[in-house]
Amino acid sequence: MSDGHHGALLDDLARRRGVIMLVGGPDTGKSTLARDLLAAVVAAGKTAAYIDADIDQTTVGPPTCVGLKYVRDQRDLSHLGQADELHFVGAIAPDSVILQQVVATTALVDAARGAADLVVVDTTGSISGVGGQTLKYHKMELCRPDVVIGLQRGAELEPLVGMFRRFFSVDVETAEVDPEVRLVDPEVRRAHRAKAFAAAFAEPLQRWRVRDTVFAPTLPAGLDLARLHGVLVGLQDGSGACLGLGVLEHEAGVLRVVTNQGDGMRGLRLGSLRLDLNTLDVHRVRLGEVMFGL
Ligand SMILES: Nc1ncnc2c1ncn2[C@@H]1O[C@H](COP(=O)(O)OP(=O)(O)OP(=O)(O)O)[C@@H](O)[C@H]1O
Ligand SMILES: [Mg+2]
Repeated sequence: MSDGHHGALLDDLARRRGVIMLVGGPDTGKSTLARDLLAAVVAAGKTAAYIDADIDQTTVGPPTCVGLKYVRDQRDLSHLGQADELHFVGAIAPDSVILQQVVATTALVDAARGAADLVVVDTTGSISGVGGQTLKYHKMELCRPDVVIGLQRGAELEPLVGMFRRFFSVDVETAEVDPEVRLVDPEVRRAHRAKAFAAAFAEPLQRWRVRDTVFAPTLPAGLDLARLHGVLVGLQDGSGACLGLGVLEHEAGVLRVVTNQGDGMRGLRLGSLRLDLNTLDVHRVRLGEVMFGL
């Protein structure tokens, strides 16, 4: 596909160094372009770092996390799912977690900058409204890409692109969405997400008893721990990195975390959703409500 719709653009981008950010609405071909670009970089004998900031329809690592994958050869390209580094966000829609989303993406861009010839940031399709624009504004402010590639239908990205140019004087190039790109059915998205959660919670699962002092944010005194049953958590190693995901389980008065990544965990970050490990369905929760009844 690299000599297809965006062939000339890919050839140009693959020769660059620095940070490239891909933006566009849902189903505009961002991830496909990212993949083609990674392939072009590797084919040119250079290295890339792929940062997948899509926390729902994820490529690198599980949903609810931003993932970083170094791509040095063909083999890495066919194992994009296996993250080299994860940063927990805790939700599958960025609107309630703009801070976490921006910090996670920035932390991984900073980690990758200088460690690869090209850093490719693939973002979520949230481009409009106050939430989408605020998210993109702060991502731009902190990630400081050298070039932004916008994929659009008609002129839908013009407000965002105008804002980027005005406030950050950044080089933005826009391209038309490939007419072949398909709109992905919500049911297909749900199935893709469930499959990704299934992979993140593949056997062998372990159940680790957890104390009520290991959480961020910290739990209020006297909290009925049963309220945490089913809440998704990020397992943290004590140096800021996320080891993987867990789900809290409260049974017979004991709180445990169910995970296959428990070795070396030091703390648990609370996510903003419950995950049912049988159906792999997710339901949004508001932490303030869970912890303080607000
Ligand atoms: N050039 C192309 N030709 C045919 N199909 C394509 C092409 N580019 C992308 N697609 C298909 O279109 C769909 C959407 O593409 P892709 O996942 O790259 O978009 P995206 O912008 O990353 O979407 P999302 O918002 O879900 O992250 C996918 O099923 C993909 O396989
Ligand atoms: Mg995508």
